[in-house]
Amino acid sequence: MTTRQRSSPDKLEKIVSLAKRRGFIYPGSEIYGGLAGTWDYGPLGAELKRNVKNEFWKNIVYGHENIVGVDAAIMMNPRVWEASGHLKSFSDPLVECKKCHHRFRADEMGKTCPDCGGGEFTKPKQFNLMVETYLGVVEGEKLKTYLRGEITQGVHVNFKNVLDSTRIKLPFGVAQIGKTFRNEITPGDFTFRSREFEQMELQYYVRPDKNESMKILEYWKEERMKWYENLGINRKNLRFKMHEKLAHYAQAAFDIEYDADGDWKEMEGIHHRGDWDLRRHQEFSKQDLTYFDEETKERFLPFVIETSGGLDRAILFFLMDAYAEEKDRIILKLHPKLAPYKAAVFPLLANKPELVKLAREAYSLLTTHYSLLPVAWDDRGNIGKRYYSQDEIGTPYCVTVDFDSLEKNDVTVRNRDSMKQERISIEKLGDYLNKKIV
Ligand code: GAP
Repeated sequence: MTTRQRSSPDKLEKIVSLAKRRGFIYPGSEIYGGLAGTWDYGPLGAELKRNVKNEFWKNIVYGHENIVGVDAAIMMNPRVWEASGHLKSFSDPLVECKKCHHRFRADEMGKTCPDCGGGEFTKPKQFNLMVETYLGVVEGEKLKTYLRGEITQGVHVNFKNVLDSTRIKLPFGVAQIGKTFRNEITPGDFTFRSREFEQMELQYYVRPDKNESMKILEYWKEERMKWYENLGINRKNLRFKMHEKLAHYAQAAFDIEYDADGDWKEMEGIHHRGDWDLRRHQEFSKQDLTYFDEETKERFLPFVIETSGGLDRAILFFLMDAYAEEKDRIILKLHPKLAPYKAAVFPLLANKPELVKLAREAYSLLTTHYSLLPVAWDDRGNIGKRYYSQDEIGTPYCVTVDFDSLEKNDVTVRNRDSMKQERISIEKLGDYLNKKIV
């Protein structure tokens, strides 16, 4: 998938522009001309990303007694990647234009080169996506290893450690969120296909029973779909897609896809990995990775059901789904749990010290509610401009201190989506907003 093939680029282009302008996402290393496939999250993007991660962790780890989390190293012993099959099979078919020498993924190309208008392609060859790196200080003796090509293996190599240290019993899950690196042939479509990105995953270990494990896969498919929906993505913009062609580790696989303006795109994979990972790590490490079932007295390698979401893709699609244009405003209708700022506080007029003083008091009061942080303060321009500015970044509530506030000790709370206003006493403001957001 490349920009060339997108059916409707408009919305994505608007998101790219808004993301840069308002500090969600910038091109990586921009002042040096960038680095293809890398992106930096700005002040608002960092908050949004943190919120998405927190919602994943709360839902998956804190929401299930039998799921724990880990945070494994990005660099691993290179044998891990031999065992996982990544060194042999983690590749995409690459073709090169014989005329302009631009390279593309063969599965995304027609017969001729789109860049120079008609050059013929070489025969496809497999191009490995692992990013190489070298460790050690002595030239010639450096260890060649890889930046992880999926976060998954950091979980599987710790299967025994987690079992031994927690005494957890099947079925159980191990979740992780973290960076992944892939030398993508054609990074593009903003953050959709990057070379450095984050994944949020659950590896759920179950008894090696085909029927039972397929039922558990169905359960996680639905759970993950609900998660996106509960965080505000319109269900009609989501669908499951079954994989016909399976990855080297998978026995069954589905994607959750998002309708990116007429173009269905993969957002998360739900995979039945069988016992591929544990079996291969057992073979390559020569360690016993079997599970002992105390009830049945059996020893076996569990199957794994995996949910593997792209954090950056989720953020991109949360932004796309939330983006709306109304008469004279742009709104990001982000779910309040995801919105970078939960509320913004303004004095009606910045040159009236009595209004500023009371607005500052209201602001301080809100910042004592952990769930409302961060709260924005804005006293620039007129009130209309401030609403416009907060709508565009998705702030769900704007709080204004006006002249009536001085007498009644209350504020106006404006709802981002309906634009309806309510008067709330300052005393009750924190609890009022807290209830709306949590
Ligand atoms: N552990 C399984 C695994 O990594 P995957 O389908 O290769 O499976 C999972 O990746 C998710 O990671 C994808 O559904 C996608 O959301 C995200 N992802 C994959 N490649 C990506 C890339 N180059 N840029 C951004 N996100 C990517």
